[in-house]
This record gives sequence, structure tokens and C-alpha cells, in this order.
Amino acid sequence: MSDLENLANEAEEASFAASTLENLEQVQAQFLGKKSKLVLAKKALGTLPAEDRANAGKEINEIKGQIEQLISSRKAALQESEWSSKFNKERMDLTERLGPIDRGHLHLITQARDELEDVFIGMGYSVVEGPEVETAWYNFEALNIPDWHPARGNFDTIFVDLGEPEEVMLRSHTSPVQIRTMESQEPPIYIVAPGRTFRTDSADATHLPAFNQIEGLVIDKGITMGDLAGTIDSFVHAFFGEEVKSRLRPSYFPFTEPSAEFDISRSDGSWLELGGCGMVHPNVLRNCNIDPEVWQGFAFGFGIDRLVSMRYQLDDIRELVVNDARFLRQF
Ligand code: PHE
Repeated sequence: MSDLENLANEAEEASFAASTLENLEQVQAQFLGKKSKLVLAKKALGTLPAEDRANAGKEINEIKGQIEQLISSRKAALQESEWSSKFNKERMDLTERLGPIDRGHLHLITQARDELEDVFIGMGYSVVEGPEVETAWYNFEALNIPDWHPARGNFDTIFVDLGEPEEVMLRSHTSPVQIRTMESQEPPIYIVAPGRTFRTDSADATHLPAFNQIEGLVIDKGITMGDLAGTIDSFVHAFFGEEVKSRLRPSYFPFTEPSAEFDISRSDGSWLELGGCGMVHPNVLRNCNIDPEVWQGFAFGFGIDRLVSMRYQLDDIRELVVNDARFLRQF
């Protein structure tokens, strides 16, 4: 029995010395296992005189209880610390990055559209938008293209299938925004209207059935063809660079008179056709209740996709819409 008295202390020391759960299991086996002193002592109880047996048994059980208690609280402490060191080791750093983040960027067309808007905003224009689905009035009639007019054929219109008469269409140019603006705003007007336009062209290296235009409209007093030419020149310099020149060539649009096409110079000395322009036709002004004797103006329009494909010398304009990231990432 005297041997056993120290046992609780020894077990306490040993379990504190155990630094892992495995070590602690060995301590548990040593003090409580089949070959432990306690178990041996229990077996030896029978050899004691009967009157001592009860006390000795009680004492053994108490010591056993103490040791069990001790080991289980040490076990809890070790479990806790093993868990937290494991946690620290395996914890994920959610602020960690594997290399730089691939952020992507605006599409080429959006970049060009933004730049064009900036150039015109710098020249005092505001940016307006109109609907992509239009009526014949806005897309044609108000623009001085009645339904019998052969110029309608030039616009390869996509109609919305609402039955006869075909009055609703995907706009075939951004010029309807001229009408909407003149209807809703008093002159003087200085606006550009970028947006998507649609024609029945099938897609090939130089055509897209859905493409983007930007329209310009100026209505003020005493506006002349010289203002138009100067404006196109300033825009071309601001967008393409000082060395690029522009020129106007006579042309025809029902909504402008006189009408012109405008070209920009290329480094090899040749000219590239960019868009159409002209002085707003008096009929168009009248259709919007603007008196042509008081107000004059000019308008111009050109394709943003074509501009982009020229700028980057794309072999195929369809590259702009197939959305191959390997292509888009270059810009
Ligand atoms: N709307 C014409 C087109 O799409 C371009 C244009 C705009 C011409 C404004 C003159 C004035 O072809």
C-alpha cells in the first residue's frame, strides 16, 4: 500500500511530461493498464487480512479515480493544442494570391467608342442614345426617305415580323437618333449618338450584320459646310493623330444636302473611306418642327467596327465578335 501512495504523484508527473496523445496513451497503460501497479495491487487484495481488505480496496479505487481524472484532463489539453497547431498549419490564407490577377479589359469596340465619345465631349458635344428597334418614321420617313424612295434599298433593313405593313425594324443606321434629339431638344444642338445598327449583310471579312455606328448632329445658327469640314478634320486629328488628313467627296444621302463621304489619309498616300456626312436637309428640320430659315446644321455618321478594324489592320472584321480571348487579350 505504501507503494501506491506515491502513485498519483508519479502519474501526474508522467502525464504532464507526455507531450503528445501517443505518449499519454503509454502513460495511461503504465498506470491503469493490465500490468499496472494498481491492477496488480487489486489482484493482491485477496492476500490481505480480511479486516484490511475493504480499506485497501477503497484506497486503490480512489487512487485509480484520481489517475483517471488526471489523464483525462491532460488528454483534453493535448487534444486542444494538437488541434490548434494542426489548424495553424492547415489554415488557408484567404488573402493569398497565386500570381497577378488576370483582370481583363474593355472590348476593342467599347474602347474605341469611349475614346470617340471623349473626343467629341472635348469639342463640346453631349452623348445621347436611342432605341435599337425603330419605326419606319424614325429610321426612314422623318429622314426624308419616303417608302417609294430607292435609297431605302441601300439600307438592307431587317424588319420585325409584325405582319404588313412593315413598320417596325432594327435600326439600319444611327441617324434616327437625329430625329429623336431634334424632337426632344431645342436647338442649338451638339450631340453624338453611338450605338448598334443592323443590316441584312451576311458576315464576311468586311461586313457584320450587327455593327456599331456613331452619329453626329449639330444644329445652330449660321452653320456651314466649312464647319462640317473643320469638325471632321479636328476629330480625325484628335483620334488618329495630327499627321492624318481628311477630305470630303461629293455623295448622296436623302437626309443631307449637300452630302459627302469623308476619307482619311493613310501613310502610303492613299485615302480610306470612313463615313457619310452633309448639311441637314431642310425637310428633315421641318419634320422636327425646326425652321430651316433660322437654323442650319450638319450631320455625320460612320462605323466604329470599321474604324477599329482599320486602326489595328485586322484581316477579318469578324474577329471583333467571335470573342476569342487570345485575340482580344492583345489589345
Ligand atoms: N446614316 C448614314 C449611313 O448609315 C451615314 C450618314 C449619317 C450620312 C449622317 C450623312 C449624315 O450610311
